[in-house]
Amino acid sequence: MADKEQIKKIIQAVQSLPTLPTVAVKVQSLIKSPTAGAAELAKVIEYDQSISAKLLSLVNSAYYGLSRKINNIKEAVAYLGTNTVSQLVLALGVIKTFEGEGNRGFNRAQFWIHDIAVATLSREIAKSEKRHKHPDDIFTAGLLHDIGKVALDHYCTEIFKPVLEAVEKEQLPFYKIEQKVIGLDHTRVGEWVARSWELPLLTIVTIRHHHEKPSARKGFSLSQDNAVDIVSIADWIAIKNKIGFSGSPVVEDPDDEIFQRAGITREKSQEIVRRVKPEILKAAQSMGIV
Ligand SMILES: [Fe+2]
Ligand SMILES: [Fe+2]
Repeated sequence: MADKEQIKKIIQAVQSLPTLPTVAVKVQSLIKSPTAGAAELAKVIEYDQSISAKLLSLVNSAYYGLSRKINNIKEAVAYLGTNTVSQLVLALGVIKTFEGEGNRGFNRAQFWIHDIAVATLSREIAKSEKRHKHPDDIFTAGLLHDIGKVALDHYCTEIFKPVLEAVEKEQLPFYKIEQKVIGLDHTRVGEWVARSWELPLLTIVTIRHHHEKPSARKGFSLSQDNAVDIVSIADWIAIKNKIGFSGSPVVEDPDDEIFQRAGITREKSQEIVRRVKPEILKAAQSMGIV
C-alpha cells in the first residue's frame, strides 16, 4: 500500500544523492559538445586512475575481442571511438557510485551482471541489421535500466527491505511487488536518479518506460521507442536465461508487437544470447564487479 511518508523519504534520498564521479560528469558534457576532440576526452579520463584502469581492463578483455592490446586511454579512444568510450566511462562512473552493500537479500554482483547482460544484449540487437543508429547509447540505456532498484537498496535500505521479503513469497514481477509494498516502483525512482544526474535522455526514457505496454507510451521519438523495445526484449532474455539476477522471480513475456517493431524473433534472440553469454561474465570481471 502506498505510504506517503515512505515516498517522501525516497524523494529526499534522491535529492541528496552524491554526485557522479567527476570524470563521468565531465565526459557527459564533452559528449554533448560538438567541438570536443578525442585528445581532450582521453585527458579527462586519464585523470581518474581507477576508472582508467577498469576501462583498459575491459577493452583488453575477451568482451571486446580486439586483435591487439590497447595500452592507454588515447589508444582506446582512437580504436573504439569517442562515443563508445564515453558511454563506458559513464557506466563505470555510475557503478562506482553504488559501491558497497545494502540489503543482504539483494546481491549487487548478480544485479550488475544482469545489467551488463541487458546492456550487451541490447547493443547486439541494436547492431543486428542496424536496428538502431546508436548501439552504444542503447548499451548505456540497457546497463542503467534498473538503476532505481540499486538506488532504493543503497539509499533507502529499510524501505526496500519489505519488498525483498515479499519477493520471496509472491510470484509477481519485481515492479508489481514494489508497487504493492511501497506504492511506486524502480522505474520512477530510476527516472528521478537519472534526471538528477542529467543522464542522456534516451537512458531516462528507457528507465522510466521499460515495463510499460507500448500502448501506454506517448510522444516518443522513433529512437526512444526503439530503445525501450530493445531493452525490454533484452531484459526478458537475460531473466529467462538466468544471466545474473535482477531480483525479479518472474518476467512478463513482451508483447508480440514489441518483437515485431524491434524486428527480432524469439528464436533469433536465443541465438544472440548463446553468442554473447560467455563474454558477459568476463566483462563483469574486468569492471571489478565479480
Ligand atoms: Fe526493471
Ligand atoms: Fe531488468
